[in-house]
Amino acid sequence: MTMRIAVAVSGRGSNLEALLQALHADAPARVVLVLSNRADAGALARAASRSVPGEVLRDPVDPADWLERLERHGVDLIVLAGYLKLVPAGVIARYRGRIVNIHPALLPAFGGPGMYGRRVHEAVLASGAQESGATVHLVDEEYDRGAVLAQARVPVLPGDTPERLAARVLEAEHRLLPAVVLAAAAAGHPIPLPQPVESNS
Ligand code: GRF
Repeated sequence: MTMRIAVAVSGRGSNLEALLQALHADAPARVVLVLSNRADAGALARAASRSVPGEVLRDPVDPADWLERLERHGVDLIVLAGYLKLVPAGVIARYRGRIVNIHPALLPAFGGPGMYGRRVHEAVLASGAQESGATVHLVDEEYDRGAVLAQARVPVLPGDTPERLAARVLEAEHRLLPAVVLAAAAAGHPIPLPQPVESNS
């Protein structure tokens, strides 16, 4: 059985792209829907260029708007890949244990409301941490607090700027997210990855 995936996005969609590249025609998972709260998200153009249906939520805080689309496409798993708003509680209740998010730091550190994009990497650098990385976790009603499924670590290097660190973390994200999704497809639901996914960079 192929696991049918919806990817929710707000921005450029490089993680969506990594996932689409990793999921070959014979993979046990397929992206069947890209959902966005923004009509101008670059991720929607990436989806369109690969003939993956993209839809813009009419009202991102209305669970019915989500659920109608998810059900129409027979979605089994929701992947938040740069989706910047809170997912409505009614969607979380219906898909509990079947929604994952990727975050550009080693949760539980450097997560929570307002911790996204450049701010995450600024905070990591300001803290003096020696390493950062990416986390994929289950989504519950709070930002960045659900069970961790997998992490990939990268070093913080001397002279790092938020941009340099972000680029290093993003490379790790592009390996981590497909690994988690493929493991979920094999198991039938998201599972913790047994091994840390290490980065070469
Ligand atoms: C990534 O850093 C992800 O961890 C965070 O938002 C960013 C999305 O980047 N949640 P992209 O849109 O996938 O390029």
